Amino acid sequence: MKPKVVIYKKIPESVLLYIKKTCDVSYYENLSDHSNPEFLTDLKDAKGLLGTTLKINKELLEHAPLLKVVSNISVGYNNFDMEEISKRGILATNTPDVLTDTTADLIFGLILTTARRISEMDTYVKKGRWNKLIGEDYFGVDVHRKVLGIIGMGRIGTAIAKRANLGFDMDILYHNRSRNETAEELYQAKMCTLEELLSKADFVCLMIPLTSETKHLMNKKEFDMMKPSSILINGSRGETVNEAALYDALKQNKILGAGLDVYEKEPINPDDPLLNLKNVVTLPHMGSATIETRTKMAWLAAENLLKGLVNEKPPSLINEEVFKSF
Ligand code: GLV
Repeated sequence: MKPKVVIYKKIPESVLLYIKKTCDVSYYENLSDHSNPEFLTDLKDAKGLLGTTLKINKELLEHAPLLKVVSNISVGYNNFDMEEISKRGILATNTPDVLTDTTADLIFGLILTTARRISEMDTYVKKGRWNKLIGEDYFGVDVHRKVLGIIGMGRIGTAIAKRANLGFDMDILYHNRSRNETAEELYQAKMCTLEELLSKADFVCLMIPLTSETKHLMNKKEFDMMKPSSILINGSRGETVNEAALYDALKQNKILGAGLDVYEKEPINPDDPLLNLKNVVTLPHMGSATIETRTKMAWLAAENLLKGLVNEKPPSLINEEVFKSF
């Protein structure tokens, strides 16, 4: 009998057909919470789960006693309660590497868009307001040769440092748990304290995973340390920033602007006051959203799922210790 898997996010047809060759699939195109009773019933005999964003926590796991593997189609896995998952001997996987360059491209785009006011100026032209040469009211700030501070120098942080240093002659400061020798050697990145980074960087770019320690890492105190000419970029998870404190910092001109791809609540409420600020560029959590990369992520997630179901080591296993204990 084929093992049953539940997929709760739309994936390319080719990947779905591949999974169906060896699994009995229940398919939901987009579930973001646990409220669908049919889905909960489906979990009863599921051996594998594949999707993204949905909280895989105790409450959900209680419905899925036979689960062997949970496969996330994203690199971040703050939606996983890792303690609960590992305690039950379930393998957890994610999709690193395949999205690194795509996400770094987008974050660099966000830096340029915010600094040079690209989206604001696009609207200016399209709304027919361009009737004379633009004056300083519309000038942005330079990106090249500025200081980029990266908080969280993992794979994506390093790829951003590469673009910044080799392409834009930027000086790189970084704050991370451990040293990143590659970034230091190849892109002249300098490791420093959070305080030094915040007080020196022209662009503060958040790329850290969300954990209990990084929640609201950027709060009033941290915004107070930034330069009035500096720009915050968030490409990690919304909850690393206290958005109320960010709003105040922007409103009171403590910082020049912000480029956001992620929010404390997603999708952000259309009435959120942040959306009324001119100096904020907002994207809909789209760092890895290209056809090529999202397809690669789905294939990798499928590979992780299928390997886990047959007790082989998935290529991107998060909880190595669970596999070792088999
Ligand atoms: C996107 O945010 C991811 O974690 O892959």
